[in-house]
Amino acid sequence: MDVVSGKTFYLETFGCQMNVHDSEKVAGTLLARGYIQAETPEEAGLVLYNTCSIRDKAEQKVYNRLRNFKRNGNGKLFGVLGCVAQQEGERIFDRAPHVSLVCGSASYPRFGEMLTRLEAGARRVTGLSLDTEETFDTPFTRRDNPHRAYITVIEGCDKHCAYCVVPFTRGGERSRTAESVLDEARLLAEAGYAEIQLLGQNVNSYRDPSPSGWNFATLLGRVAEVPGIRRVRFTTSHPRDFGKDIVDAMDSNPAICDHVHLPVQSGSSSVLEAMDRGYTRDDYMRRIEWLKGARRAYAISTDIIVGFPGETTRDFEQTLDLLREVEYDSLFSFKYSPRPNTPALTLPGIVPDEEKQRRLVTLQESQRAIQIRRNAGLIGATREVLVEGRNEALGQWIGRTSDNRTLNFSHPGNGAESLVGRLLVVRVTHSGPNSLVGESVTVV
Ligand code: SAH
Ligand code: SF4
Ligand code: F3S
Repeated sequence: MDVVSGKTFYLETFGCQMNVHDSEKVAGTLLARGYIQAETPEEAGLVLYNTCSIRDKAEQKVYNRLRNFKRNGNGKLFGVLGCVAQQEGERIFDRAPHVSLVCGSASYPRFGEMLTRLEAGARRVTGLSLDTEETFDTPFTRRDNPHRAYITVIEGCDKHCAYCVVPFTRGGERSRTAESVLDEARLLAEAGYAEIQLLGQNVNSYRDPSPSGWNFATLLGRVAEVPGIRRVRFTTSHPRDFGKDIVDAMDSNPAICDHVHLPVQSGSSSVLEAMDRGYTRDDYMRRIEWLKGARRAYAISTDIIVGFPGETTRDFEQTLDLLREVEYDSLFSFKYSPRPNTPALTLPGIVPDEEKQRRLVTLQESQRAIQIRRNAGLIGATREVLVEGRNEALGQWIGRTSDNRTLNFSHPGNGAESLVGRLLVVRVTHSGPNSLVGESVTVV
């Protein structure tokens, strides 16, 4: 493309699924206003970065991108959206003077108005208020995947864990009405989506603002009953608000997937207290027992932070011990990263980076052995998969099981007809630490 058009946009997304889905809504809003999406920033008149600031490394990514364009970027307009935008606000204009738009996620309901001002020539447009009861529901959402769809049910977070920026970057909790969530789920089913993923930073604190006042377990059950929806997932669950009623809803609705992501952060009750998580190790284990004692077998995954201020080697041993006790199916682990505004900044007992690194490696090695063992136990079993894509090099289809494992498989006729979006039964023949391999059995 030789002309840089004001009506072309490029959008790159960092961070969690909430950000990915926000970008689908932002892109849909732009497309509805006549913009065309470009594949590269070079081709676009408007370059947008939807940013994450959960750890320092994530935050630095946007500045690296902006530096690539230094001054003006050939008359392009630049916008910083999302969590770094909210956190840094107008300081971004000082650091990167070629940026014209700084907008946090709580201001997306006014994204259209901000575009109008940019189009009219304004060069310092901001959306930084966190004082809102609104959620960003738009009919223009342009989903990236034609088979799996995200629906945000609750925005923001009220928890204020001692290490976390999210309450500062996304504001307080706002739930959507159950009616609007169900309407969206029905539209998605009619459009042929097989899987829905309900999103919230703390999805279990969902509370319908309309008089029915449904809680999350009720909403989850109702979404799973929408005709045509074959799979429902949800993320993220905070252990404190993860009630037994959620396990009961899962047990009685086969469309709800066999997987719960339940971030523990640490296996030591004293570290959990310093993190202000609102539960002890025993409270957490009670939830694990509900899941292990349920009617179906549920895969469980978690997040762990190593090297939180004051974490001793004994505390860390307790986390390793918890790993062995729960036997997670997968784990996301992070070195503690000090974040602006958070209470943990002032805590004593800073753990040196080398020690954090050592703990991270030990943790990951320990989990790898657990995953190798658990996945090997699935050889010979059959699992239903939703087909997500194809690996031409291996001549295999890429599927996802209900319990959130990647299961790559061969299928007769290999590749002639696309299976993407279909549900198939596959027999597991091989396993590794992070995925399974198999052969298709029948088409469901
Ligand atoms: N709302 C979710 C977490 C969202 S952030 C929850 O409460 O579980 C995803 C993960 O990033 C967290 O679970 C935590 O493990 C990690 N994380 C958050 N802040 C962090 C920090 N300052 N340093 C390192 N990891 C962090
Ligand atoms: Fe952050 Fe805690 Fe809220 Fe999760 S629950 S987003 S870790 S403050
Ligand atoms: Fe990152 Fe914001 Fe999500 S900080 S993890 S993009 S809520």
